[in-house]
Amino acid sequence: MDDFFAWLENAAFAEAIRGTTYLYPMLESIHIIGIALLVGPAAAFELRLLGLGQHKLPVTEAAKYLLPISRLGLGIAVITGVVMFVPGASLIADRGSAPWKLGLLLIAGLNILIFHKGTYRSVGDWDLNRTPMPARLAAAVSLASWMGVTVAGRFLAYT
Ligand code: HEM
Repeated sequence: MDDFFAWLENAAFAEAIRGTTYLYPMLESIHIIGIALLVGPAAAFELRLLGLGQHKLPVTEAAKYLLPISRLGLGIAVITGVVMFVPGASLIADRGSAPWKLGLLLIAGLNILIFHKGTYRSVGDWDLNRTPMPARLAAAVSLASWMGVTVAGRFLAYT
């Protein structure tokens, strides 16, 4: 893996990122905009799953308007994150917070998969009723894991 990271950070692409004035802070800014688009609507959807507006706002309606914005944010965060990773691959991968960020990202992704392939399939039964426990659990895991990824991301700059 070390060889791969060394190759990555010496590639012309990495050189170009390092050599372009203000590109890195621009990428960081876009990364943060992506995080806001991802975490904001996701948190609103999770609060609905946890019972907020239970008898007024159908879960399917909340999903229809909020989740596409969240997906766009995730796409922006992943693309800018990978581009920022390349020029300092060895150094960043070596930081103590890197496995936390990756692990929490995997948990968040797995949680989405389990929720949409499992619990969400029966949403017709609880669209405006009490949310079942597995959906509440998925919402809690999602809130915690995205917050964790955000904290680990901030730590990535330091340790
Ligand atoms: C594959 C996906 C991702 C990769 C490869 C990635 C990679 C990175 C890298 C390389 C940095 C810069 C660290 C530095 O300045 O040395 C960073 C910063 C950060 N990342 Fe990510 N990231 C990803 C997704 C996410 C997601 C989904 C979140 C939040 C939900 C997130 C939260 C953060 C935060 C809060 C920062 C600090 C930004 C700042 O203070 O400037 N990242 N990330």
